[in-house]
Order: sequence, then C-alpha cells, then structure tokens
Amino acid sequence: MDLYEYQARDIFEKHGVPVLPGIIADTPEAAGAAAAKIGGVVVVKAQVKTGGRGKAGGVKVARNAAAAEQAAREILGLDIKGHKVQRVMVAAGANIAQEMYFSVLLDRANRSLLALCSAQGGVEIEQLAAENPDALAKVEVDPLVGINAEKALEIAKKAGFEESLLVKVASVFERLYKVYESEDATLVEVNPLVITAEGDVIALDGKVSLDENAEFRQPKHAALADSAATDPLEQKAKELDLNYVKLDGEIGVIGNGAGLVMSTLDVVAYAGSKHGGVKPANFLDIGGGASATVMANGLGIILSDPQVKSVFVNVFGGITSCDAVANGIVAALEKLGDVANKPLVVRLDGNNAATGQEILAGINHPLVTLMPTMDAGADKAAELAHIA
Ligand SMILES: Nc1ncnc2c1ncn2[C@@H]1O[C@H](COP(=O)(O)OP(=O)(O)O)[C@@H](O)[C@H]1O
Ligand SMILES: [Mg+2]
Repeated sequence: MDLYEYQARDIFEKHGVPVLPGIIADTPEAAGAAAAKIGGVVVVKAQVKTGGRGKAGGVKVARNAAAAEQAAREILGLDIKGHKVQRVMVAAGANIAQEMYFSVLLDRANRSLLALCSAQGGVEIEQLAAENPDALAKVEVDPLVGINAEKALEIAKKAGFEESLLVKVASVFERLYKVYESEDATLVEVNPLVITAEGDVIALDGKVSLDENAEFRQPKHAALADSAATDPLEQKAKELDLNYVKLDGEIGVIGNGAGLVMSTLDVVAYAGSKHGGVKPANFLDIGGGASATVMANGLGIILSDPQVKSVFVNVFGGITSCDAVANGIVAALEKLGDVANKPLVVRLDGNNAATGQEILAGINHPLVTLMPTMDAGADKAAELAHIA
C-alpha cells in the first residue's frame, strides 16, 4: 500500500524525521485558512499517489493566505497522470539551499535492503541514474543490522556530501531507517531531502510503501487505507476474506488454488481470442475449503460486476472433494436466488469428480453448463460471454 505524501509526513514526524508543518485541505477556502494558520510563505501541494506533481503544476508557492486559496483553486481537480486531485497539503515553505535524494527499499533480487542516496536530488531519480550514475550511491543494507550510525555515515560519504554535512544528514538517514523498519515498509523515499539556508536538514517530500503482509502486527495501518481509491468490488472481497483481483474483461473466473486460477486466466484469455476478444474479468481463488458460503460469497462478488457476462468455475478436487464443491455451488445458487443471472460453466476434476458432476447435473439448473476439461470449459465460457 502506497501512502499519500501527507501520511508519509505524519509518519516521518512520529519517528523524529525533521519535516515542516503541513495541513490537509479539500477546498480552496480551507487551504487559505491553513495557510493563515501556518503563516508566512507556504507551498500548496496536490495529494495524489504519483510523482512529478511539481512538473504537472501540482506544487505552487504562495506568499499569503489569499494566494494559497487561489493556488488550491488551480490545483484541486487537476488531473495528474490519471489521478484527480481531491485534496492538497498546505506546507510551510522551506528556504532551500540544496536538494538531495535518499531512499531505502526492499531489494528482492538480492534478498537484502538497498539504500540509494545522492547529494543531487529534486530531479527524478530515474533521470539521475541514467544521466549521472556515479552521483547516485547504492549501498547494500543488511536487514539484520539496518542503518546504524556507521552505515548512515558510509551512505552519506558515498553520496558525495561535503564533510560539514555528513553527521547531520547521517542522523536523518538513521531515523528514516527507523520508519522503514518499525512501520514494516518496503520503500521509504525522500525526494527532495533538503538543506535549508539556515542549515537544517528537512524531508520535503516523502513516499512510503507499506508491506501489506505485515498488517497483522500493524493495526494502525488500516486507518491509512484509501477506501475511496480502491475498487469497490475488491474492497468488498477483502471484507469477505476472498483473494480477488478485478480485471477488465467479461468472463468471471473462480478456481481453487492460486496456481490453477492463474493458468485458468491464461486459458480463458486464449479461448477469448477465438470469441471476439473477450477476456477474464477477475482473479478469484476460493482456496482449499470451498464451502457453500465461500462459493456464494465468491459468486456474489463476480456476479455483481456489471462487466461480467459469463462465469467459469474451474475446480480441481483435492482435500476438498468435488462433491463438496458441487454442493457448495448448489447452495450458493439457492442462496443467491435471482442474483445468479449469468451463465455458469463448471469444470470439476480430481477427487470425487463423478459424484460432483452428478450432483450438478441433478439440479438441472438452466444457467449451469458442465464441461469435462479446462480448455472446453474456458471455450464455452468465452462463447457465452461473447454472445451475451
Ligand atoms: N515545503 C516546500 N517548500 C519549498 N519548496 C518545496 C516544498 N515542497 C516542495 N518544494 C519544491 O517543489 C519541488 C517538487 O515538490 P515535491 O514535493 O518533490 O513533488 P513531486 O516530487 O511530486 O514533484 C521540490 O523539489 C521542491 O523544490
Ligand atoms: Mg518529489
């Protein structure tokens, strides 16, 4: 989960990373009031989860409250790389002497952590890495040790900071690592980290990505989730504890086991290419114990996607046998009643497949078609989605 800049700012503050006062506002008037409260020169900043806001006109300096109100009026509603600006942060203006870059991230390929740092920041880091790779220090960080005082100094030296700044910036790196570690982040990035004319080191822009696998020990992170920005079906699926990902196509897909569902998506996409280019509408893994409730919840989510024209249920019976899954489907259809209004193609194989197929054949439901193989099932589902 990526955080907004203002959320990153709050987390930085909590861990003692130096930041400037900032107040969130969703109307020009509120931005004006925030600027009056902060006083002096402020910067009005679009809150969208993408970089390059400055270049896109989403960061504006304002000398007083009236100017801040006007700046917010211009920024609110802007479209920045497909993100509509609904809120701004009014931040105190810094008197910048030097812009720098710092990040610490999970380096999956090396099973380690990596710190990136440069005494030249502000610009996009991809550009710096491409044009002036020597200016970007890359320092491996042992996750068991982290960024201690010694490591922080090593990073600062490699990044080319002048002697007089080393200790000052290094102590901020240590604190930023505290953020990374104690918040279970996968990325903490500050661009720019600045030195002000007064000689203070301040994090002016922050990007933090949190590791959702650590949710269980980070109860406070739930409040940071942006329910307005997540897909409503995904939100509902999450509440029901389903592994669901919304895709863009017309064929709903349900399977048991992530591997089977992934390959079902491939087979469905391939079948769709022969039926007018229809595509999978989602990923949904109902997991091992495909109970009637889980099946009903899963079907309920998929059928409430208006884009879905047909559904392919592809189950390989293992510990949960096919007759249990078939009973689950029957119970789900009963439970859903009129909500179940799109054709359902079912392929059951594996443990007790024959019994499962008999159960489904027995209810003689007008919407259910049994198919013997995954390929045939995908083809049928694609055909039905195409003609619907
Ligand atoms: N509080 C601030 N005071 C002064 N200048 C700022 C402030 N916040 C941002 N800036 C300037 O605006 C530039 C872009 O802002 P930033 O927050 O980095 O957004 P983005 O990276 O999305 O463009 C910064 O590099 C900095 O020069
Ligand atoms: Mg930035």
